[in-house]
Amino acid sequence: MAADRHTYRITGGVPLHGTVEASGAKNAVTKELVATLLTGEPCVLHGVPRILEVDLVLGMLTELGTQVSWLGEHTVRVHTPEVTSTSLSSMYSGVNRIPILMMGPLLHRRGETVVPLPGGCTIGKRPIDFHLRGLAQMGADIVDRPGSVKVSADRLTGAHVHLPFPSVGATENLLLAAVLAKGTTVISNAAVEPEIVDLVLMLQKMGALITIDTDRTLTVSGVDELRGVEHHTVADRIEIASFAAAAVATDGRIEVRGARQDHLITFLNVLRHVGGEFNETEHGLEFFRARPLTATDVETGVHPGFMTDWQQPMTVLLTQATGTSVVHETIYEDRFGYAQQLSDSMGAGIELTTRCLGAAACRWHNRDYQHTAKITGPTPLKAADLVIPDLRAGFGYVLAALVADGTSTISGTRYLERGYEEPVAKLTAVGANITTQPA
Ligand code: EPZ
Repeated sequence: MAADRHTYRITGGVPLHGTVEASGAKNAVTKELVATLLTGEPCVLHGVPRILEVDLVLGMLTELGTQVSWLGEHTVRVHTPEVTSTSLSSMYSGVNRIPILMMGPLLHRRGETVVPLPGGCTIGKRPIDFHLRGLAQMGADIVDRPGSVKVSADRLTGAHVHLPFPSVGATENLLLAAVLAKGTTVISNAAVEPEIVDLVLMLQKMGALITIDTDRTLTVSGVDELRGVEHHTVADRIEIASFAAAAVATDGRIEVRGARQDHLITFLNVLRHVGGEFNETEHGLEFFRARPLTATDVETGVHPGFMTDWQQPMTVLLTQATGTSVVHETIYEDRFGYAQQLSDSMGAGIELTTRCLGAAACRWHNRDYQHTAKITGPTPLKAADLVIPDLRAGFGYVLAALVADGTSTISGTRYLERGYEEPVAKLTAVGANITTQPA
């Protein structure tokens, strides 16, 4: 991955006050860009965040024959009259999880594709077995190659695919494969995150026939073709929660325009348990501290549960709460690696354990993964030099630096900027003392 463009210097202790605009969700828009490959007609997406991850996906699409033009700061037109290549160059190997989602569209357009495997990362192994098994059930022929898979199919056919776990990516992959498949596909135990529902809305406008049942079942009746679409991407509830945590942790008040309560229900409950509060405003939600912060227990889960991507800012917030909190991470086996720098360098009271201390034993029970954190607070955080290990940990570190006494420097900012649009400008707008220096 590319090098950092700059490092951040943050002087903490300033309560953040003001308004920020929520960006479009990275984890919706990147899949929606892939969905445009399903039609030869032009598509226009609004609310597209200007982040490195979007640049990467647009680069991939361009290699496949997509014409890309920006119509406005956050509006992009993508048009793939013909798919001119069935594989991506090696520079896209292992960079993110988007190429594997292109399998369905490329099979429909060209009958075969070779896609690079995403590989593991700092948060867990992240296999793609559910994706491949589902596509095989739909008639794809899959051949493993070193670092990639070759997939071919004359025409995908509907199947009943039961996911062993409601995987976001596998659900999206199968949806993108099913919309143009012959016959009906049923995906049971599917993920139903708001970003997936947003993808479904876009596909429906393109002509797809998809129903979402209350029991996590998606039923897709395949159609022969899909048309172009104009779609506005849903707001990023991870970014929104990050700024909410920043308002409460610094004892400030931040309005996030575009924030939707219905996408944050579980987060808002936890925030309130800790001592935060929210008001609905004309354009979104504002977040603030309502009382002294107190410890609470959190367990991450699939939607409508508490997102694993909300876990990092919440953990940092809990270092400022009185008492002992437990955060049980049930989605990824290794998503607390970032906690060590918070404890060792900043003085946070975080202890990791391999035990499931949540309400129920999770998939990582008895498997030697440090997936539960016990956080004892409040601890004054000390300024430190921090190196970001992954995107969501990145905002956790920024938040820790905003709370800490003194000036911290943060490197590894390329990870953060993959998923957060203009974080420095947005934080500056709410009064944060943050500057950048060339890396
Ligand atoms: C998406 O990852 C997001 N990424 C993640 O956000 C997010 O944390 C995650 O969903 C959960 O909400 C994108 O949308 C690009 P999963 P995804 O498949 O789809 C296991 C961020 O920072 N699994 O729902 O890859 C897997 O190992 C990122 O924006 C299998 O075992 O997540 C994990 O334990 C980080 N086999 C669990 O399921 C499979 O074939 C959930 O993963 C697929 C998944």
